[in-house]
Amino acid sequence: MKQFVFFLLITAGTLSAQQWQWPDKPKNITALPSSVTGRDLQRVMFGYTGGLGVKCTYCHVGEEGADFKDFDFVSDAKPAKNKARMMIKMVKEINTKYLADFHDDKNAGIQVNCQTCHSGKPTPITLEEKLKQTFDAAGLDSTVKQYRALREQFYGGNTYNFKEGTLLRLADKIAEDSTKMSAAIAVVNLNIEMYPAFAFSYTHLASWYEDAGNKQGAIDNYKKAIELTPGSRGDQMKKRLEKLQSGK
Ligand code: HEC
Ligand code: HEC
Repeated sequence: MKQFVFFLLITAGTLSAQQWQWPDKPKNITALPSSVTGRDLQRVMFGYTGGLGVKCTYCHVGEEGADFKDFDFVSDAKPAKNKARMMIKMVKEINTKYLADFHDDKNAGIQVNCQTCHSGKPTPITLEEKLKQTFDAAGLDSTVKQYRALREQFYGGNTYNFKEGTLLRLADKIAEDSTKMSAAIAVVNLNIEMYPAFAFSYTHLASWYEDAGNKQGAIDNYKKAIELTPGSRGDQMKKRLEKLQSGK
């Protein structure tokens, strides 16, 4: 019996030496409260991975999929870790300085957290901004490809906004450069492929065709937009259409 207990103690001892645990005395804390415990860290770190849609390795030195005991969580070698520290300080300041007195009732109001801005991505960029960056760097085909790929991966979540207006906002940004009108039109046509019943796509095309002197293109698209717009909300477009058709 004595021997058995001894054996158990040894086994438990070796196990706990091997198993990784969230440190109750972390070694390199400069942004979180210095009193942070292992349990706090666990909650906070999983908040970061979820909030930014990343793995621990985005900020920490270690092999993806490896045991945590083989990670070097103390190291500051990854630049994202220090960027995260700046963010931790910024979020604290927003909450304690700007939002603390926002409501007279101290219990009212909301707090900003990583998710508020990042909503599941490492850089809190809107879908139209991201696509515009791709358009500027790599052109229309890459932009369309990226939209389709992101839609495949993220549709239905809140990481990117895939509603009917997004591609139209992108098209407007592209159209600010008048030499890029054909790309802007292609983006509106992509929106029509995705949302064939969204009237604003057709009014976009109609007004651009009108500006470019393409009367028939404008007429066709106003007609489609009117078809899709119930009641008096289509009156403005009907007037435009009548004007175009009467040649004025
Ligand atoms: C967005 C970046 C980011 C992600 C993702 C992240 N961490 Fe961290 N982690 C930090 C920062 C920043 C610190 C240091 C906080 C400070 O200085 O106050 C830290 C500290 C730690 C520490 C304390 C290390 C020490 O002893 O000083 C541990 C342990 C840790 N993280 C584990 C994890 C684990 C496990 C994951 C994945 C589930 C993870 N972290 C994901 C940014 C991140
Ligand atoms: C008020 C909005 C906001 C909040 C809240 C916020 N961030 Fe950020 N974060 C940003 C913006 C904007 C950028 C991009 C800055 C840039 O690249 O110009 C960014 C960038 C980052 C980056 C760098 C990404 C990269 O690889 O370039 C990290 C890491 C990061 N944030 C972590 C966090 C963490 C962790 C939290 C929560 C503690 C947080 N952020 C909360 C707005 C926010």
